[in-house]
Amino acid sequence: MKIAKMEPTKQGTALVTGATMGIGAAIAERMAREGMDLVLVARDAARLEAAAKRLRADHGVEVLAVPLDLSHEQAPAKLAERLEDERVAVEVLVNNAGVAQVGPVADTNPARMRALIDVNARAVAELTSLLLPGMLVRGHGAIVNIASTAAYAPAPYNAAYGASKAFVLSFTRAVWAETKRTGVRVVAVSPGATETPMNTRPVPGKRQPEQVAETVMKAMRGRGPAVVDGPFNTVQAFVFSRILPTRTAARISGQFFRKAASES
Ligand SMILES: NC(=O)c1ccc[n+]([C@@H]2O[C@H](COP(=O)([O-])OP(=O)(O)OC[C@H]3O[C@@H](n4cnc5c(N)ncnc54)[C@H](OP(=O)(O)O)[C@@H]3O)[C@@H](O)[C@H]2O)c1
Repeated sequence: MKIAKMEPTKQGTALVTGATMGIGAAIAERMAREGMDLVLVARDAARLEAAAKRLRADHGVEVLAVPLDLSHEQAPAKLAERLEDERVAVEVLVNNAGVAQVGPVADTNPARMRALIDVNARAVAELTSLLLPGMLVRGHGAIVNIASTAAYAPAPYNAAYGASKAFVLSFTRAVWAETKRTGVRVVAVSPGATETPMNTRPVPGKRQPEQVAETVMKAMRGRGPAVVDGPFNTVQAFVFSRILPTRTAARISGQFFRKAASES
């Protein structure tokens, strides 16, 4: 389906990566409810097409499904080419796709770790740099990069994941500063533990994907460079990054992720 041939909605098009499950699916659903057309990205083509079909039927919006593995080197460039071919101007980019991997670094397969970094960090930076120029020319648009509360302190036994999310947070804050007064909104949104296929562990105070999606919508209307989802997570991120000494924060988060690794 070519969005270019459709009458575009007043709200424009939102591109959501990792849109078939969990937080990304909730964000796509929330954007469709606002009347936005969608571009959905994930690896599993059948699940992607099913999500697209459901969103078209439920909300009457145009949905383009692009099956793509964002860990592949050329994936962001291929996606940008596809958007150009389809003449889709992305009004809102949500870099949500992410993968997790718990366990000690010494036991980690380097290729798996590289794939995590490629999806969680490199693809986020590349898609931002590929789609931001068009937004700047148009003088409007938004980029929401999904980080994590794990970005706010070292994450022993989840080291590469935490570091990839610290990259997302730092990168987004910097691009926020570069784009002030351009009409383009750039913001990092950090969920804490949220009930999704990625995180099925019972954790007290766990949030639902729909709550994170609501926080994303609010964050797009806000002004600051970074938002944490939910009051408990907000306090936790503040305490871990601004109050506790790094070694104490690392010890506490390490206990949490070590337990997660032993249960996985
Ligand atoms: N759940 C939590 O507790 C939590 C907490 C903090 C932050 N987050 C962050 O929130 C975001 C969403 O997490 P989630 O829990 O909703 O994850 P999820 O349930 O595992 O869903 C991940 C989504 O990303 C897609 N995806 C995974 N690898 C991909 C790849 N290589 N290329 C393209 N798409 C890919 C998946 O579809 P395919 O498998 O078909 O590709 C799926 O649509 C992530 O960035 C995560 O780090 C989650």
